[in-house]
Amino acid sequence: MTGAHRPLRERRICLATHNAGKARENAALLAEYGITVVTAGELGLPVPEETETSFIGNATLKARAAAAASGMVAMADDSGFSVAALDGAPGVYTADWAVQPDGRRDYALAMGKVERLARHSADRGAWFSCALALAWPDGHVEAFLGEAHGRWVWPPRGERGFGYDPMFVAEGESLTFGELDPARKHAISHRAAAFRTLAEACLKPGE
Ligand code: IMP
Repeated sequence: MTGAHRPLRERRICLATHNAGKARENAALLAEYGITVVTAGELGLPVPEETETSFIGNATLKARAAAAASGMVAMADDSGFSVAALDGAPGVYTADWAVQPDGRRDYALAMGKVERLARHSADRGAWFSCALALAWPDGHVEAFLGEAHGRWVWPPRGERGFGYDPMFVAEGESLTFGELDPARKHAISHRAAAFRTLAEACLKPGE
């Protein structure tokens, strides 16, 4: 990586997420670099509306809002599940597909919707995407994208993980993300891929 990236020197940052599964995984990745977190939820920060149409755009928007509100460096994750037979849907609308009329999220129903729409296609390709953005209170942003490719399966399998994990099998694996040991998922996930790029750019040892 070039010197164009800004190194992260802070040892405590704000995680701009209200999603417990994403907070847990991102906190574990940062802990390996000795960085502790406080979440936007713990600080009582407002949840900004995700008005962008790309993962990078929404991660940037969330990180900027949390950095401005907390005065800390903030990291945001915007991620989603894409199905080849559905031209990449649900994609940035992955979370929306789980929203029920009463406002609560139901991922069993969301996974069922994916299966209903894609079941007649021979193409079972699917992938998770994750954008990670780091925003500083002065407005500077560093953003990175990671993907995990594989296929979708039905019925869903596994109680580990969260969201759409039970219907995704990564390339080279036989277990779904919902069945895999969390350490294995961490090693091969879209979040880990994005985080590796971020770490290479902004967390190099000694910086
Ligand atoms: P957002 O990033 O908050 O807009 O929402 C991300 C959506 O993608 C949520 O519905 C998550 O459940 C889903 N998602 C993101 N990452 C993963 C993952 O690692 N496993 C399963 N579902 C995920």
